[in-house]
Amino acid sequence: MLSLSSLVALLSIASRVVAGVVQTQSQDFNGHSPRTTYWFAFGDSYTTTGFDPTGTLPTPGNPLGNPAFPGETGGGGENFVGFDTVTYNKSLILTYDYAAGGATINATLVAPITLALPDEVDDFLDVSAPWKSEDSLFSVWIGINDIGNTFYLDGDRSAFSDVLLDDYFAQVQRLYDAGGRNFLFINVPPTYRAPLLVSFFSPAQLLTGKSVINTFNAKMAAKVKAFKAQNRGVTTWTYDSYSTFTCILDDPTAYGLSANVTGFGDAGQFWGNSYHPSSDVHHILAKQISQQLRGTPWF
Ligand SMILES: *[C@@H]1O[C@H](CO)[C@@H](O)[C@H](O)[C@H]1NC(C)=O
Ligand SMILES: *[C@@H]1O[C@H](CO)[C@@H](O)[C@H](O)[C@H]1NC(C)=O
Ligand SMILES: *[C@@H]1O[C@H](CO)[C@@H](O)[C@H](O)[C@H]1NC(C)=O
Repeated sequence: MLSLSSLVALLSIASRVVAGVVQTQSQDFNGHSPRTTYWFAFGDSYTTTGFDPTGTLPTPGNPLGNPAFPGETGGGGENFVGFDTVTYNKSLILTYDYAAGGATINATLVAPITLALPDEVDDFLDVSAPWKSEDSLFSVWIGINDIGNTFYLDGDRSAFSDVLLDDYFAQVQRLYDAGGRNFLFINVPPTYRAPLLVSFFSPAQLLTGKSVINTFNAKMAAKVKAFKAQNRGVTTWTYDSYSTFTCILDDPTAYGLSANVTGFGDAGQFWGNSYHPSSDVHHILAKQISQQLRGTPWF
């Protein structure tokens, strides 16, 4: 039988790439160039744009660097990183998206497809951009694969989440130590409702998945609080993707989406493919994230 992680790997390779157009740099009404800020994004296929840090880097006019906008995303088309960088931005954000499809928190604990979070942080530490603490946003959205590939296993899942989160926040600490002060954390969405998992697991197993995700998210919230308390000058935001996904999946037509949340890949559906939300859903996330961060240098 094909394992879940190889299925997910195949899906990320098969995900569609849709070409788009990047707006060129505009000037404000006084003819000044907009303020330049930075966004360093970490995570998995829910965040990746397929950026290769050794390729073309972000510049005004091409704010996400390689590959061509909107990049190679998990669900196909523009994801929340693209929408927030070029549509909801209030400054010229140069976005370095180090996220990689199939990424996990710690490669020893749960095998990633290619990179794990420490590799992404290593990539960031090599960056040559002239970023400063006050104009740089760090986002982390990870845990989806760590839980998706293990929730059904024997053993104490709650204790495993503690181990995962200790390693997660050890990487966040590296970002702080390098000068990161503004952190957006995104919790794990209800992937137990994704068509891939629904077709693969029994209803009882899916309920276990739900419970493991809820426990992880509660523990993650506590880790964010502790990280903030233990480090001077930190600002954090936690975007609750779990609640957003749940609200949309429970009432998709209220968000202008198709009522069909069991299928995937058709225009207007919640799921872009069997394990990833569509670009329409990313658009909703991006808008909400920009509203949560309104008044910051980025939004
Ligand atoms: C938003 O981003 C776009 C694309 O980089 C840029 O052209 C535009 O000037 C930015 N908006 C503001 C208000 O800085
Ligand atoms: C990954 O997990 C292993 C096993 O628990 C541990 O020895 C190692 O320190 C962890 N690595 C990182 C980078 O967190
Ligand atoms: C939902 O959409 C899928 C295709 O994405 C389709 O195969 C399925 O029949 C649809 N279900 C309903 C109830 O319309």
